[in-house]
Amino acid sequence: MNERVLIAEDDADMRDLLQEDLESVGYKIVIAVDGEAARERIKFEREPVDLVITDVRMPGLKGDMLLQTVREHRAEVPVIVITGFGTVEQAVQMIKAGAFQYLTKPFETAELLQAVDNALKASAPQREQARLRRELPAAPARIIGASRPMRELFELIARAARNASTVLLTGESGTGKELVARAVHESSGKRGAFVPVNCAAIPADLLEAELFGHTGQAFTGARQARPGLFEAAEGGTIFLDEIGELPMAVQPKLLRVLQEGAVRRVGADHEREIKVRAVAATNRDLESEVRAGRFREDLYWRLNVIHIRIPSLRERRFDIPLLVEHFVTKASETSNLPPLEVTTEALAMLTAYDWPGNVRELENAIERALAMADGAALQPSDFPERIRTGGATAALIARGSERRLTLRELEREYILEILRETSGNKLRAAEALGVDRKTLYRKLDEYRAEDPTLSF
Ligand SMILES: Nc1ncnc2c1ncn2[C@@H]1O[C@H](COP(=O)(O)OP(=O)(O)OP(=O)(O)O)[C@@H](O)[C@H]1O
Ligand SMILES: [Mg+2]
Repeated sequence: MNERVLIAEDDADMRDLLQEDLESVGYKIVIAVDGEAARERIKFEREPVDLVITDVRMPGLKGDMLLQTVREHRAEVPVIVITGFGTVEQAVQMIKAGAFQYLTKPFETAELLQAVDNALKASAPQREQARLRRELPAAPARIIGASRPMRELFELIARAARNASTVLLTGESGTGKELVARAVHESSGKRGAFVPVNCAAIPADLLEAELFGHTGQAFTGARQARPGLFEAAEGGTIFLDEIGELPMAVQPKLLRVLQEGAVRRVGADHEREIKVRAVAATNRDLESEVRAGRFREDLYWRLNVIHIRIPSLRERRFDIPLLVEHFVTKASETSNLPPLEVTTEALAMLTAYDWPGNVRELENAIERALAMADGAALQPSDFPERIRTGGATAALIARGSERRLTLRELEREYILEILRETSGNKLRAAEALGVDRKTLYRKLDEYRAEDPTLSF
């Protein structure tokens, strides 16, 4: 038995008794001298506890609140309540709220051990599942990727999900910032809503009232009091997209809300507490925005508690075939048709292209190609020019380095590829290659001498 049992009990004698009894049969014990300490320990992810034994009445945070914390953060962990005879009623309430069992003081050691054993057995499958979730962060639903940078990303998402800190997502346009923000929210098991706000899309003078709400008298035209988006995200996540566009005037107000965990509606004279996790995203370089004086440094640090950088698609070409398959399947499901094959040539071309618009560009390209395709499989010709030409030479170089071609061989393949692309037009080919026509002719003569079957 090496399960870890957390004892939350303010009475030292009772604590020692429990500890002795449980240690004598091999459990590991973690002591919390009050509810607050216990709560901190429950959220601590490195050495998660398997069972909580809590007193009902403790100074500060009481047993019922502790139970609630466990249900929220570690729903798989059973809670056993220790009650004196004065608090039996509360203990019964705690059973209704999800505690496993209560024991009335004084109790026998055997009774305690039996309860602990029952609780651990009953919760074993859930605890095992939670352990697996912690140890092997699986790809959150809908995020496709198996490359190393993506596996690192999944790990970061899992870590962020277990934590309430603010998350800053950076990455080029179309890399999946919003998708990742949703994944952080969903994997954190929060019951509240995911509320996206595009800071660039709301006019500066309305943004404050949108975010924080307003009272009835806040400004002309504001007849009715209205909660803001922060309040709408209570118990959940607010996604502050394009945070780099947040007007200077609103920045100190956001900073305050994040620091205090409280919002003040525009026109109100009091604040209300809110529990909201903020996830912010930007495709700008916020640090240089800070240096340029367009973004407050204190806000930057407040947002940047957990930084997740989402890699561009060309940093993880390994994922391109997976994404292609995913988008082909998705599109065929929407259109109710069997998924088309993708030819090897098309796949090589898609893998070689640089995708400045990242996953969004790839998704669009697949959708359009499917609309264009008339055969049984997607061909390179189903894709637009920029992808075909941008990709072919890159693919050539990729193939060249795989086959360990000499520079001369690579040059030859490259020249022949450009000739194919220009449909044999030597003038245009020479231009594209940056050489004069005579040089090109000389090279072609050499190639023909080596291989008489070549024709240009
Ligand atoms: N890894 C992925 N797996 C599956 N779909 C993805 C992945 N990454 C992005 N997508 C899809 O690509 C599209 C763009 O993603 P998203 O809107 O999250 O990008 P973004 O980083 O927020 O872009 P922008 O900076 O332009 O707002 C969405 O349709 C999203 O579902
Ligand atoms: Mg976005």
